[in-house]
Amino acid sequence: MTLHTTAPEEADRLPASAKERILEIVADCRSLEGPLLPILHAVQHEFGYIPEGAKPVIASALNLSRAEVHGTVTFYPDFRAHPAGRHVLKLCRAEACQALGGHALGDQARAMLGIDWHETAADGTITLEPVFCLGLCACGPAAMLDGELHARLDADGLAELITEIGR
Ligand code: FES
Repeated sequence: MTLHTTAPEEADRLPASAKERILEIVADCRSLEGPLLPILHAVQHEFGYIPEGAKPVIASALNLSRAEVHGTVTFYPDFRAHPAGRHVLKLCRAEACQALGGHALGDQARAMLGIDWHETAADGTITLEPVFCLGLCACGPAAMLDGELHARLDADGLAELITEIGR
């Protein structure tokens, strides 16, 4: 069995209380089959993102390499590297929605918000994220604003959503 050590420099940047909470989450989930994803989801739920310093803590606790944890975090677009804004707008970037005009909506959202994918507006109002299918493929383009689904979104509908959140 290979033992992996925690990188002290990153893990130590986490406040002790955060490290403790992450270890509690690991303890709660470690008996699950394939515990890494549930742990990462729980950490993001708790902190709003995956703190860089959480990765070596999780890696060490699960006896994984930091590269394995980092690779999983970066593979799934749902995991954030930074805290999200007060609102989170997710636009579907999967094929069915792209065929129905999703690409133009992505361009419109980025232009209206002045941010790119995965970014948060400087005033903290909103984070723009791509998603890859929201289960509304027949009613695309689809979006989700703060957990609420929106189907058949067009340019006017998107502008309305963005105006509603004060942008
Ligand atoms: S492809 Fe967009 S909701 Fe499925």
